[in-house]
Amino acid sequence: MNAKFDLVVIGAGPGGYVAAIRAAQLGQRVALVEREEKLGGTCLRVGCIPSKALIESSRIFEMISSGLADHGLSVAGAGLDMRALMQRKERVVEQLTSGVAKLISKNGVTVFNGQGRLKDPKTVLVAGEDGESELVAENILLATGSATVELNQLPFDGERIVTSTEALAFEEVPKRLLVVGAGAIGLELAQVWQRLGARVTVVEMLPQIAPFADKLMARLLLRILKDKGIEFHLGARVEAAMIEGGSVRVSLADDGGKTSEIDCDRVLVAVGRRAYTEDLGLSKVGVALDERGRVIIDDEFKTSLGSLRAIGDLVAGPMLAHRAMEEGLAVAESLAGLTVKREIDIVPAVVYTHPELAMVGKTEEHCKSEGLDYTSGRFYFKANGRALTTGDAEGAVKLLAEKNGGKILGVHILGPSASELIAEATLAMKLGATADDLARTVHAHPTLSEAIKEAAQAACGRAIHA
Ligand code: NAI
Repeated sequence: MNAKFDLVVIGAGPGGYVAAIRAAQLGQRVALVEREEKLGGTCLRVGCIPSKALIESSRIFEMISSGLADHGLSVAGAGLDMRALMQRKERVVEQLTSGVAKLISKNGVTVFNGQGRLKDPKTVLVAGEDGESELVAENILLATGSATVELNQLPFDGERIVTSTEALAFEEVPKRLLVVGAGAIGLELAQVWQRLGARVTVVEMLPQIAPFADKLMARLLLRILKDKGIEFHLGARVEAAMIEGGSVRVSLADDGGKTSEIDCDRVLVAVGRRAYTEDLGLSKVGVALDERGRVIIDDEFKTSLGSLRAIGDLVAGPMLAHRAMEEGLAVAESLAGLTVKREIDIVPAVVYTHPELAMVGKTEEHCKSEGLDYTSGRFYFKANGRALTTGDAEGAVKLLAEKNGGKILGVHILGPSASELIAEATLAMKLGATADDLARTVHAHPTLSEAIKEAAQAACGRAIHA
């Protein structure tokens, strides 16, 4: 089949499908190419969404197993039906992926199912089940996302040594789980399986968990996760792994040269993701990549070939679904000639552990290394009335701002509903608010959001409850 479009989008993850919908809304003829059967990409199928479903189920399990006594409540023996738990997760995924398919169809976007490959800067070949299609377009958007990084010492076998995809679908709780990498994926899944009953050990090469986070918040989270029973080896690397019978023996070496061995049933390797550029024909058409294999773009998302644009995990920047979505919107609107200025510089990030870790803007370490004249205000949830009433008062808010109640530079929240609370800080930063603005904003009482106000008050030197 041969067809002509205004825009062909390759990849139906959050970046690609949002770009396709918006471009169609703006009157473009749009094709969306996806090799997986379900739309939604890694995020909806095997990432953000299924992990959040498991996080919720495991949290409830932990709550009824051991978290109710403090409220004076008890239930008779918490049961765990893994099949039902996984089926619920699948239902959530199905609801969202089919919802995306409906939106795509409602907006008149044509979907081509199959592997997309560039023939030239204006033509995409799609190898589908019914043969090859040739799609010609004025503009092409690459949104193929990322793939899991593999370690030589720990080659994936899909059974014992696995990626997050398999770790989101274990049929039974592993007795002993080793997680390599204490980033977002490692920490979230470590906690899921620990809550469901696994003995979990996390190995991290750096001296800090969540290395992208503010040091203080990462330290607080580490202490909490250790208290919950997760074991950590920081500053340690995996030297080798051997599969022996049903288990894996992993040799570790720490920064001081000390070696140790860990026996486990399964190993989750979560040491980062890399831009997914394979089989796209990029080198053939001459799209330039950087030293880390990411597509190089300018500030209008244009690659070295003008008619080709790229967004999301494929290009430099935080590998986050919401960033990709925003970039998808920006591309679609700029192609339609809208002059909406879209600065995607203030991007929140969340690790959905419990307590959740959410952040936006600079860390204190950034402020120091950039030589900024900053001040820091802190507020602990144990002094927040609402957090105490819910029995969920671990963690703190830290707000960094220019001195004397000046512009907010960064906000870091470790605590209940941090993923939701961070939106206030993100909006404040987007609007260029100061710590003084935030400190003088009336917050409902009693709410968790008062902790942000209190951190702002502390940064202005007028803390009340601390
Ligand atoms: P990550 O980059 O967040 O963390 C990887 C961790 O592995 C780092 O702490 C790194 O120091 C460590 N590491 C690297 N090599 C190692 C080695 N050989 N031995 C031990 N540790 C090693 O990557 P992750 O967790 O795999 O996530 C991939 C991407 O997906 C990230 O960019 C992340 O932001 C994104 N993501 C975001 C989520 C969220 O927003 N909640 C959830 C899951 C993923």
